[in-house]
Amino acid sequence: MTVTQKSVYVKTYGCQMNVYDSDRMRDTLRTMGYVETPIPDNADLVIFNTCHIREHAAEKVYSELGRIKKLKKAKQGMLVAVAGCVAQAEGAEIIRRAKTVDLVFGPQTYHRLPDLIARRLETGDAIVETEFPAEDKFEALEQQNGRKVLNRNVSAFLTVQEGCDKFCSFCVVPYTRGAEFSRPVSQIEKEALQLAEAGVCEITLLGQNVNAYRDSDGATLASLIAKLSQIDGFKRLRYTTSHPRDMDEALIEAHACNPKLMPFLHLPVQSGSDRVLKAMNRGHGIDYYFDTVAQVRKTRPDMALSGDFIVGFPGETDEDFEDTLKLIETVQYACAYSFKYSARPGTPAAEHPDQVPDEVVSDRLVRIQGLIHAQQTAFNRALVGKTLPVLMEKPGRDEGQLVGRSPYLQPVHVRGEKSQIGTVLGVQIDGVGTNSLSGHYGAVEA
Ligand code: 5AD
Ligand code: SF4
Repeated sequence: MTVTQKSVYVKTYGCQMNVYDSDRMRDTLRTMGYVETPIPDNADLVIFNTCHIREHAAEKVYSELGRIKKLKKAKQGMLVAVAGCVAQAEGAEIIRRAKTVDLVFGPQTYHRLPDLIARRLETGDAIVETEFPAEDKFEALEQQNGRKVLNRNVSAFLTVQEGCDKFCSFCVVPYTRGAEFSRPVSQIEKEALQLAEAGVCEITLLGQNVNAYRDSDGATLASLIAKLSQIDGFKRLRYTTSHPRDMDEALIEAHACNPKLMPFLHLPVQSGSDRVLKAMNRGHGIDYYFDTVAQVRKTRPDMALSGDFIVGFPGETDEDFEDTLKLIETVQYACAYSFKYSARPGTPAAEHPDQVPDEVVSDRLVRIQGLIHAQQTAFNRALVGKTLPVLMEKPGRDEGQLVGRSPYLQPVHVRGEKSQIGTVLGVQIDGVGTNSLSGHYGAVEA
């Protein structure tokens, strides 16, 4: 059977789970004869895999759709698809606002893409698919794609858990991604082996609440990590995002005894005020967070921590905000992300009467980002003179340069050969940029 070649342009917004989903869509489309194109101009299919976490992220999609309208006029037969969380949250509203859109489908239905495309071509009607289907999306993808279509870099994502039951009062995820769901170990293992076969050396296990992972046979994230780290090709394992309430002892202990598990933990706390944490429905206070961090650092003293913070949550006072700065001072993060609170329709916090004025929020954001930046710089500077094991990932921008990754997730620039990609080399750090390090080869300290 000959397959006509068509082109697809995929643009991904938002979190790593969307990056993973886009890769899986590409796998499926490749089996359907699509080749990827880096620009949308002449594509047969354009997919925007969207994020709905903050208003800003959702609005970006609509402006992108405005731009694509012209291209679609020039390219006969172009299909435009909106996938992901904006699709899930807004559904048919997208078609009403942007007539240029042919397909709208949520994150739980991307395995139905071949069928959606066929239906669109057959009927000519725009299609909206935002169910949480009963069938196993991952199993369906496995059947569609077979084994040999994976095309990944040295480092790849692997979604093991999806959805969230925590219902933080500001967050749309429980509505856009649905209830917590953990993939069976056997299914994950199969995909992990495919990734290892495709040359992947580092995997990051993903989940909205990855450390709440629990399959129907009782496997936990700690036992899953132990199993996957037995795969020879994998040199490194990571996981994200973790909730403080689900940091169990076995997982913390894994950092002490599993050399493949990297000493980096993304553990968002969102605020340093107990009052705000309660209003956010986070299910723990700051003492619990401090205890968890202390236990993690006792087990693995070189653990680098990262976090997420929301500033200007409804009702956040100057004092609450100062408490957040104090928490950051106490924890000392290697890096952290901070966001202005964004009222999301349908979430309890959006109804709160006490919204903080934008100029106050902007001012707080500048302050928190200044503090985080200073901590990140201090963390990076402290590595100068040390020799780190660096996984070489890809060629750098300059001739003869490689970019690798430190255990703490920083990009590291070093002179090297392409043949070294996929190996872990000792790099003595001698330079610190805003977001990256540079160095030369040296022996890794024991
Ligand atoms: N407003 C601002 N930031 C948010 N986040 C989630 N929901 C919102 C919101 N409504 C942030 C949290 C979360 C990260 C992924 O996005 O900090 O950890
Ligand atoms: Fe959103 Fe809270 Fe769930 Fe994280 S734990 S995905 S912030 S509801």
